[in-house]
Amino acid sequence: MRTDQPTVRTDQQTVRTDQQTVRAEQPVATAVAHPNIALIKYWGKSDEKLFLPRTDSLSMTLSVFPTTTRVRLAPEAGQDTVVFNGEPATGEAARRIVAFLDLVRERAGSPVRAVVDTENTVPTGAGLASSASGFAALAVAAAAAYGLGLDARGLSRLARRGSGSASRSIFGGFAVWHAGNPDGTPQEADASSYAEPVDAAGLDPALVVAVVNAGPKEVSSRTAMRRTMDTSPLFEPWAESSRADLVDMRAALGRGDLAAVGEIAERNALGMHATMLAARPAVRYMSPASLTVIDSVLQLRRDGVAAYVTMDAGPNVKVLCRRADTDRVAAVVREAAAGGSVHVAVPGPGARLLDEGV
Ligand code: DP6
Repeated sequence: MRTDQPTVRTDQQTVRTDQQTVRAEQPVATAVAHPNIALIKYWGKSDEKLFLPRTDSLSMTLSVFPTTTRVRLAPEAGQDTVVFNGEPATGEAARRIVAFLDLVRERAGSPVRAVVDTENTVPTGAGLASSASGFAALAVAAAAAYGLGLDARGLSRLARRGSGSASRSIFGGFAVWHAGNPDGTPQEADASSYAEPVDAAGLDPALVVAVVNAGPKEVSSRTAMRRTMDTSPLFEPWAESSRADLVDMRAALGRGDLAAVGEIAERNALGMHATMLAARPAVRYMSPASLTVIDSVLQLRRDGVAAYVTMDAGPNVKVLCRRADTDRVAAVVREAAAGGSVHVAVPGPGARLLDEGV
C-alpha cells in the first residue's frame, strides 16, 4: 500500500489524511488494483456467506491487467449505479457489487447510495482473476468513500467478502491468505481470515500468461468450487495435500528456489483441476489449446528451462519462469498458443488509492 498521504476529493473540500480513508461528505475515491495468480490455490469455502476458504492459499500479484474503480457517493440517488468499462452493468455482476456496497454501508452506518465506475483491463470471467483485481479496487475505493478507516489487513478482510481471491490483491508481490477459523462467532470467523505479504526477496520470477480463449467461462468458479466440494471424492485428499504444499512453498520462496516454487505450484494446480474432473457432473476448464501450451512447457523443461504451469477457472495457462528466461519461454508459448495472446507479468504492486489530482 502507498504510504504517502492520499487525497479524497469531496464536493465541498479536499481532505488530506495520513490514513487511507477519511470521514467526509459526498466524497469521491478512486483505487487501482492488479490481479493475482495463486501458486497454492483457493478452491472451496468453509463458509459461503463470509467467504472463508477451506484452505490457505498463496499468490503472486501481477504487474499487468490493472482494474481502476471510482466510487462516488450519491446522496440524491435511490439506488446504486454500476458502470463497467463504460457500459451500465447488469445481472449477476451488478448484483455482486451492490451486495458488496450494502456490506460497506452497514459497516459505515450509512444509507447513501453510490456510483461505481470500473475500468477493467483484464478479460473478464476467463480465469484471469478479474474478480480479484475488481473487488480489491472496489474495497479500497469504497472504504475510502464511506470513511471506514481500514488498514491493509482490514481492507483484505473486506475485499474477501466480494471475492475470496481479492483478499490477496490488496498486497503486492507474494501474499498468503489465511483460511482462518470458521468455528468462532461470525465476528471472530470474519476477523480470522485475511491475506498478508510473504517475503520472496531471493526470487526473480516472471509469469507468462497465454490467453488461448478470452471469452467468459461456462461455469463460474463459485459454482464449480461448490460442486467440487459437494461431490468430488478427490476434494478432501487435495485439500490435505494443499496444506503440505503450502508449507513446502513457503520454504521454497524463502530459499528463492524457483524450480521448487514452480514444481509445487504446478502439482497444486493440476491437483485442483483433478478434483473438478472428478466432480459430478465434471467441471473441465482445460481445452485442447491449454494442453498444447502445457506440452510446450514440458518440452521447455526437457530442454533445461525452469518453466512450470498453473491454471485457474478457465482454459488460459500461466507459466512461471525466471525473469531471465522470459523471452525464450514467451516465444515457445506464443507458438503453442497459436492465435492466442501472450502477456508477461512480474510481481506487481498492491491495491492503492489514486491521488485525484486536486
Ligand atoms: C481458481 O476468488 O473467483 O482462481 O470467492 O467465489 O469469488 P469467489 O471465487 P474466486 O475463486 C478463485 C479460484 C481460483 C484459485 C485462486 O485464485 O486461488
